[in-house]
Amino acid sequence: MIQCWRLDTADTTLVLASHNGRLPEVLHFGARLPDGESLVALWRAGMADVTGGMLDERPPMTICPMQEDVFPGAQGCDANLQFRLKDAAEGEGTLTLTYADGDAEYRLEAQADADTGVLTLTAHYRGLEIGWLTAPAFPVPPSSDHFITYGGKWIGEFQEKRVPWTTGTHTREVRDGRTSHEAFPGVLIPCGDGVIAAHLGMSCGHRFVAEQLPDGRRQVQFGPMLGRRETEVTAGPLYLTRAPDRDGITANLHRHFTKHIRTFADPDRPRPVHYNCWEAVYFDHSLRELSDIATRAAALGAERFVLDDGWFGRRDDDTSSLGDWTVDRRKWPDGLGPLIEHVKSLGMTFGLWFEPEMVNPDSDLFRDNPHWTLGPPEQPLGRNQLVLDLSRPEVVDYLFEWIDAILTEYDIDYIKWDHNRPLPFPDHRQAAATYALIDRLRAAHPGVEIETCASGGGRIDWGILKRTSRVWLSDSNDALERMRIQAGALPWLPPCVTGSHVGPRTCHTSGRILPMELRAWVAAQRSFGFEMNLLELTPEESETLARVTTWWKANRDWLHRGTVHQLPARDPEQVAEMTVSADKSRFAVWLGQRGAPADILPDRLRLSGLDDRQYKVRMISHYDAGWLSRGDNALKSDGVQLSGTALMAFGVQPPVLTPASIIVLEGEAA
Ligand code: GLA
Repeated sequence: MIQCWRLDTADTTLVLASHNGRLPEVLHFGARLPDGESLVALWRAGMADVTGGMLDERPPMTICPMQEDVFPGAQGCDANLQFRLKDAAEGEGTLTLTYADGDAEYRLEAQADADTGVLTLTAHYRGLEIGWLTAPAFPVPPSSDHFITYGGKWIGEFQEKRVPWTTGTHTREVRDGRTSHEAFPGVLIPCGDGVIAAHLGMSCGHRFVAEQLPDGRRQVQFGPMLGRRETEVTAGPLYLTRAPDRDGITANLHRHFTKHIRTFADPDRPRPVHYNCWEAVYFDHSLRELSDIATRAAALGAERFVLDDGWFGRRDDDTSSLGDWTVDRRKWPDGLGPLIEHVKSLGMTFGLWFEPEMVNPDSDLFRDNPHWTLGPPEQPLGRNQLVLDLSRPEVVDYLFEWIDAILTEYDIDYIKWDHNRPLPFPDHRQAAATYALIDRLRAAHPGVEIETCASGGGRIDWGILKRTSRVWLSDSNDALERMRIQAGALPWLPPCVTGSHVGPRTCHTSGRILPMELRAWVAAQRSFGFEMNLLELTPEESETLARVTTWWKANRDWLHRGTVHQLPARDPEQVAEMTVSADKSRFAVWLGQRGAPADILPDRLRLSGLDDRQYKVRMISHYDAGWLSRGDNALKSDGVQLSGTALMAFGVQPPVLTPASIIVLEGEAA
């Protein structure tokens, strides 16, 4: 007996088929099928033949391949159970399938958002102890010859890795308990007729499996790394979408993110320009200097001042005080009030750094409660710290109480929530407890927004982003690195939540000296801010920073509602991106040249996402290639006016690009 269900978005259909009441296979995930298509006929059309060397039936590749299926590939769960369909509930764009074996249960929850084109799939398991459960696994068509996964590192997140499909299993595990710098849990799968994208929205480390069987079938699994064997596990949500191309994926994911994931305390408030003092003063806090910096920051256009690490306990470096969340009276004899009053008098709001899940052995918290930590007593420290065990309610209550006290005493609208060391072992419960703590604090302080940071981009995923409003994408403020990291992260992270700061002239993580024009325009691609000692700026640097800040503030509204396109560049040293406003009446283009150009002249830049209106295009960045540029280029003078069609089909010729430079174009419907 065959039972089928379908879920549709505007242009995609997912068909699930359950044979003899067993866990379902994804029969089809592709172009939208006509209403009324016979799903049973579809199943029959896909029935496999059998030949020598095979069983008498081809084992199904279900959303959770099990031992009982005699499936010859990676299993989706390591229990030996025989689930049979107990209940199927279909709603408007939703499907819940419940399977049981005695008291054990497997439940699939699926939603399809017709507007965004994104499916959300979650597996819930209850039963015998298991050590592995995949979020619903999905098949990949034979037309795909590779997939794109993510590598990376601290100060070098979101590095795309192209992996060809070949018979066998590609497995990657993140075992350090965080989403990780090294392996963002997302995959892009180019297929003959488009691209599939999937993301596991969990913050606890994950296993990713991409497998091709000897019979040619492929499956992808994504699931949480469990800390121990469990009798109840949720794997997901897994966000799954497909589109004709990568820009279409970005558009679907950004739409879905905006509708379901994004949480801004006040959605009508434009994203504020941040000032963060970390790379200006590190742990060296003084009211006088920070007040002077705040005055400069406000004059340059900042709207939120964030006091980073160093304000609490006796924290003069990273060896002490995590866990002691009281103001350091040596540095702040009158508390944080005087600085906050000054910041507010300048028209800015105030944000504060915390790293709640951690403790230094050199802290009152640890001296009083050495047993509150996660992992064995003898374990290597990470950045001189240990992880607090959030499965203990008294630990969570302690953290809530002290953070709540600071948020109650002071006028704070922002927390930078850091997480600077891996866990001693994978522990998905720790992530769940962190979510609960954040939820509790947000309920008590609904006006406070949170930024997720884990030494930069170590905890970026849609699970944490459901409760935070911004990511600190990377500890690298090197604009050339940032360009690449921002491009890698773009499909998964809309610009309005992706923090990007103009860093110091000499970059602290690379030693490179980069011009302000480049640093400022790269930060202006995302959620803009500055992070450097503003008292050291030259007048020219101040002028550039103020100019770009003014531009960003004047344009952020449409930029943050617009559609982002990544423009193809043949030169591997180029990164090109444009944002088109929702009504297509304006756009901005960033063309960055990271290293030495591949060719003597850049290629003509062909734009995307426009209609056939006439657009005036001009260069708004200050171009200076010195004597290297001596031609009569339109963008160098008064720009061009062309139809959107011509700008896409023919393009516009950029002037000569020098290494470590950027040009920014603005277009407006004429
Ligand atoms: C982490 C963050 C930095 C800064 C420091 C403070 O490394 O990523 O931005 O907040 O912690 O210790």
